[in-house]
Amino acid sequence: MPRHDPTTHGLTRRGFIRGGTAVALAGTASACSRGDEVKVRPEGVPVSAFDKKTSATEAIAGVDLSGKTVLVTGATSGLGLESMRVLAGAGANVLGTGRTLAKAREACASVGARCTPLELELESLDSVRACADAVRALGMPLDVLMLNAGIMSLPKLEQARGLEKQFAVNHLGHFLLAHRLLDQVKAAPQGRVVTMSSSAYKWAPPVGIEFDNLSGEREYDGNKAYGISKTANGLFSIELARRLAGTSATSNSVNPGAVDTNLMRNLPGWQRTIFTPIARFLVKPVGVGAATQVYVAAAPALAQVSGYYFEDCNPVVPGGQMTNATLAQQLWAKSEELCAGYLA
Ligand SMILES: NC(=O)c1ccc[n+]([C@@H]2O[C@H](COP(=O)([O-])OP(=O)(O)OC[C@H]3O[C@@H](n4cnc5c(N)ncnc54)[C@H](OP(=O)(O)O)[C@@H]3O)[C@@H](O)[C@H]2O)c1
Repeated sequence: MPRHDPTTHGLTRRGFIRGGTAVALAGTASACSRGDEVKVRPEGVPVSAFDKKTSATEAIAGVDLSGKTVLVTGATSGLGLESMRVLAGAGANVLGTGRTLAKAREACASVGARCTPLELELESLDSVRACADAVRALGMPLDVLMLNAGIMSLPKLEQARGLEKQFAVNHLGHFLLAHRLLDQVKAAPQGRVVTMSSSAYKWAPPVGIEFDNLSGEREYDGNKAYGISKTANGLFSIELARRLAGTSATSNSVNPGAVDTNLMRNLPGWQRTIFTPIARFLVKPVGVGAATQVYVAAAPALAQVSGYYFEDCNPVVPGGQMTNATLAQQLWAKSEELCAGYLA
């Protein structure tokens, strides 16, 4: 069983052993309806029997992840912590990141066996590089890279390296992490990159990404900036899928739905006071909210599924700019430019 050394990145390879998985496949479909909202299903992608009430544990019941290695970013809270718990429960060895090693250790200890803490501060490309290098030093395949950490709707403009902070944390830090760990994902028998997006991609402006305003300084709005960052997560995922074509690795994005987590911590206090009690009746508990990302990470039925966006454990076609392949390539090129000096 992998344990951490007392140093931040003193990981060892011992204990990481690969294994297989098994789960059922429900069939195929091209359209579905939920309430008065019509969802379009992409053609030819397996549809599961799961829905918005399925828990993460149920979504991968019977799947044996023994010997698989999974990295979950933002494993100290909410969906990341629950994903780490459920994936480790299914037998995976999980590298769980926290913004500090102390937080990551605490989260890993709360789950117990098979979890190894890692420090990762996505605002800092130096921290991202150090985290990735520690994982690379393990010299072993990465079966799942779950890009989960995130911040939402910062009320006032904050920046990291001159970039609007939600774009920097939610997208760019994860872009660099994935870039530096991609060879390990490709080295797995069937590696998967799972990127957390959100239906809040709808909060982005019609152009999707404001390349001329990545600093966020022009007409800052916290929700718009979150929407841009979540559009960037979706675009990153489809461009990565394109680049992974012909390999055994896949890339998909996930909207978990509205889930009761700490994500709204940045809202002003008065908004949290009003919204939180109401939200508790409307949102998914975290054990259910994590179902889709865990399902996309582990379901054998999705072994050859790449380039899709999932909600409630099933693929749907998102709107906005989320399927704009040209924009996705433009974002990739810009992201490489912004990570110059850190990519090699
Ligand atoms: N909850 C929802 O309703 C919802 C809906 C749609 C999409 N999502 C997405 O789901 C993902 C998980 O969110 P959540 O709801 O579980 O929120 P959460 O409870 O706030 O957890 C977010 C995690 O990200 C970490 N994080 C924040 N800033 C970071 C940084 N700069 N560097 C590294 N890690 C950082 C947090 O660490 P600290 O605790 O140390 O800050 C925490 O572990 C996010 O990508 C979010 O956009 C959530």
